[in-house]
Amino acid sequence: MGDGICEIAIDGLPSVARQAPPRIDPVNQLDEDGQMVAIPEEPYSIKRWQVFCIIFVILGAFGGVVYFIVLPIKSYKPPSVLKPKPGDPSRPFTDATPEIPKEYPWEQQRIPNDLQPYEYRLTLRLDVTKHVYSGSLVINLRCYHPTEYIILDIQDVRISDNLVSVIDLSTGKIQPVADTFQVSDRRTRYIISVADKLRVGSIYRANITTFTGRVTAEPPGLYTAMHRARRGRDRRMIVSGLKPTGARHVFPCMDDPAMKATFDVIIEHPSDQTALTSSPSESTTTLPNGWVRETFYRTSKLSTHLLGFALFEGMTELERFSSRGQVVRVWSAFDPTSSPAAEVALNTTLDAISNIKDLLGLDYLLQKTDVLPVPGQIVPYDVYSGLLMVRDTLLFCDVDDSSIRDQLQCAMALNHAVAHYWFGISVTAAWWSDLWVTEALSTELAYESLACHFPELSMDPIQLVESVLPAFLYDGHSETRSLNSEAWTETLDGSEKIVMSGKGLTILKMVRSIVYDSSYMRAKKTILASYGTINTSQLWDTLSQATDSFVNVSLVMNNWVSNAGYPYVTLRQTVEDNGARRIYIIQEPFSYFLTSRSTLHWNIPVAYKTKEQSDARVLWLNDSVKNISDDSPMGEWVLGKVDSNGFYRVNYGPGNWKLLSDQLLTNHTVFDVSTRASLIDDAFNLARASRLLIPTALDLTRYLDKEDDYVPWKAALRALHYLLTVLSKSQSYNSLKAYISNKVVVAMRRYKIQEDVIRRRLLYSELFEAACRYGDTNARKTAIELFRKWRTRRQRIDPDIRKSVLQEGIASGGQSEWNFVWRKYNSSSTTSPQDRQLFLTVLASSQQDYILYRYLGWTKDGFNIRREDVPLVFRSMADTVAGRELAWKFVFGNWRELQQRFADTPSIQEEILRSVSSQMTSGYELKQLRQLKELIDIPRLRRILERAEEQTDLHIRWLAGNEKYVSDWLGETDV
Ligand SMILES: *[C@@H]1O[C@H](CO)[C@@H](O)[C@H](O)[C@H]1NC(C)=O
Ligand SMILES: *[C@@H]1O[C@H](CO)[C@@H](O)[C@H](O)[C@H]1NC(C)=O
Ligand SMILES: *[C@@H]1O[C@H](CO)[C@@H](O)[C@H](O)[C@H]1NC(C)=O
Repeated sequence: MGDGICEIAIDGLPSVARQAPPRIDPVNQLDEDGQMVAIPEEPYSIKRWQVFCIIFVILGAFGGVVYFIVLPIKSYKPPSVLKPKPGDPSRPFTDATPEIPKEYPWEQQRIPNDLQPYEYRLTLRLDVTKHVYSGSLVINLRCYHPTEYIILDIQDVRISDNLVSVIDLSTGKIQPVADTFQVSDRRTRYIISVADKLRVGSIYRANITTFTGRVTAEPPGLYTAMHRARRGRDRRMIVSGLKPTGARHVFPCMDDPAMKATFDVIIEHPSDQTALTSSPSESTTTLPNGWVRETFYRTSKLSTHLLGFALFEGMTELERFSSRGQVVRVWSAFDPTSSPAAEVALNTTLDAISNIKDLLGLDYLLQKTDVLPVPGQIVPYDVYSGLLMVRDTLLFCDVDDSSIRDQLQCAMALNHAVAHYWFGISVTAAWWSDLWVTEALSTELAYESLACHFPELSMDPIQLVESVLPAFLYDGHSETRSLNSEAWTETLDGSEKIVMSGKGLTILKMVRSIVYDSSYMRAKKTILASYGTINTSQLWDTLSQATDSFVNVSLVMNNWVSNAGYPYVTLRQTVEDNGARRIYIIQEPFSYFLTSRSTLHWNIPVAYKTKEQSDARVLWLNDSVKNISDDSPMGEWVLGKVDSNGFYRVNYGPGNWKLLSDQLLTNHTVFDVSTRASLIDDAFNLARASRLLIPTALDLTRYLDKEDDYVPWKAALRALHYLLTVLSKSQSYNSLKAYISNKVVVAMRRYKIQEDVIRRRLLYSELFEAACRYGDTNARKTAIELFRKWRTRRQRIDPDIRKSVLQEGIASGGQSEWNFVWRKYNSSSTTSPQDRQLFLTVLASSQQDYILYRYLGWTKDGFNIRREDVPLVFRSMADTVAGRELAWKFVFGNWRELQQRFADTPSIQEEILRSVSSQMTSGYELKQLRQLKELIDIPRLRRILERAEEQTDLHIRWLAGNEKYVSDWLGETDV
């Protein structure tokens, strides 16, 4: 009834006046800090008729009308005609919340496909200085099953209910709207209920004349970011953060990746701001008030989460056209001609496009690609069709001024972002539980293309140490999820993404070794050629078909996707009573926590070999245990997971571990670099999980002084760093440091700074850092001297060792050294986001408590340290022995204030807690953790602390059991 009145009032007026009547909207009244502010003015002035309309409505006799306009989101009472339908047991809820019977179609997790959108027309009115925006939307839908409901996903967006209409485009007739309502228990949905059932085969248009939304401080949805300008005020930007389900925070939509449609976007914005979306701009018309209306070309068919938006001020672009007229633009807040960094980014993007095009033999079809730096972006890169948003510190790398490590990271980010065009945009995961498919395929593609970029770097080992080993680490925790978990629909954080790429990548490698390269390539081509969206079983089926159904891939691989975590396999050599020698191969789920034993099991292709064999043999371990006869010569090692190909860890009996470490000592090159890295990583992590005695793992490091490769060194230094963190209060701490430092120094002697081979540069940089960190006097002296020359004579420091040099300079210095670097961080001549990140990191290495405490204090005031930089300060602090305790004390004592300052950026609160709480080792700290938890009622934050408790408890028990082993081992070993 309510909409009827306003419909009549409006229908007689010219269409330009069809604006939402202004109303008291609680959303509009809170600004970023939760302060009350005036309702921002709409870009159009309010027409007199609207005032009349409001007065009419308010004075109207219908109390319900007032209720309806003032509180447009009313709770829904089911109409009596609707009989509850039986629940749908085939789609169980995944959460622990009590089961809600699924009576109504909008309660289903996925929007029913009775109606499918094929075209959206979306207008947004945005201004970087405002925290609210408005928009209008038309959705054209095709009807596949009769229904009386048009169901849309919506979150924190408000629709003026009285301005919604539906037209049958087949007949041109208006389809009367019976009711509109919003439901919000587990997910919020907006439902347009029509008077007559929509008919199969017809097409309909839902027209939502006005909706309003908020620009927040972080994703999901549209959020603000800030570029630090060289001079003058900072430049603001609004960007979208839409994965996994952020699109519904921007506009009402059927937010399901499988429902692809075209988008015609119009963005109205102040004329001095730049708007970008997924397609090129078509035309711009001037509006009153200095605004413009910018119309963009129709996009190709996209999932809602791939339609990106950006609006910003004061950035310039560097562009280049391909031979086919496609343009790539890199935006920067600095003058792109002043530094080669923007051109490097442009070249890297163009190279990635052409490399992948050649690798796949498939074209890149986007007319334009914008690459946009986003300061403080939570994910390293956020990919939209035609719009790549990259964290600013990962975008701008200068060949002369960035360390080789940063260059590798930057190239990796851009190559992966570009690879998503093929796996992500052209072929989209059909649902969030299938996201791993496109993540894994695009990661694989990114490494292949990175190999073209760095031809002298062999990618398999790099992939292992950069993507796979970190995935093992995160996936070993107790709250890890399976790759196909439905929970990805709700969240997807950084470490989860690491698991998805690294584990997914390894699963693909396992598949590839089963079906062979040619079938694998054929399957990939089929997917690219014939799928718009893909789910897990389609991936398996395509792979099986590529082998002519010789292998049932789903049967052998699916438990890698549906089980959380991963197994460890033990190879145990035994002698039976009759003298026969056998190898028992046993699988068990791996976890760092003893309590989480489960009955999961995997089909594992265990590739193993003995010293005598040149080729690996493969055993399918589909039971919990199998045994084979051991025909290796007595006293020779057996190695599992040959080629490091498999997402499992391998354990052995003590005798075999000894043979392996002896082999490393006599001739380590018998094992390839990936195997060396895997052996070390497996051993230390098995020891961390109390599945192996720590001396056995330590034995594997004895050969390290001979190690010449970056990859095993990186794996070893990571493992040892963790071990030292746990041992930081123990008596063995200093002797273990000395032991590592000796190994590092011997290896480092073989190299010099400025090696010309990339691997050696990577290695040198790693070793130099370790030498300083673990207290080698010579390395530290060198670093301090370089720091002095840099400070007094502006002498350049080689970028590969800059971090270590600055850290030593700060650590050995006092107030004035610290202030010097702090000024550098603030200096207007520092353009590079990477430099600013570097300065902030090294400032945490001071050894003076009062300096560190002041530094920490600045994270609260919102003046000295920018909001997006705060997590980095805590992270760097938690990375040093001196800083770790101080940072925890600070957070413990100031939690309320921190929480207040970061009230609208929960991700920063999470990051702070995670950084300072994850490396504790004492009962006292455990008590404090529990105390802090009492103060916190946000579930995500509590979970971080619970995880920290679990971790701390593990450390305490581990130390009790192993501290003595370490000191005994150090006593017996030459240090
Ligand atoms: C949607 O409705 C508005 C207001 O009723 C009207 O001005 C506009 O033309 C409609 N859009 C389409 C595409 O029908
Ligand atoms: C980028 O590529 C162009 C054309 O290939 C080349 O001339 C230019 O030197 C490259 N720039 C940088 C910084 O590598
Ligand atoms: C070490 O092993 C490698 C690979 O098996 C072999 O080529 C090399 O000659 C061996 N070196 C020594 C010193 O035995």
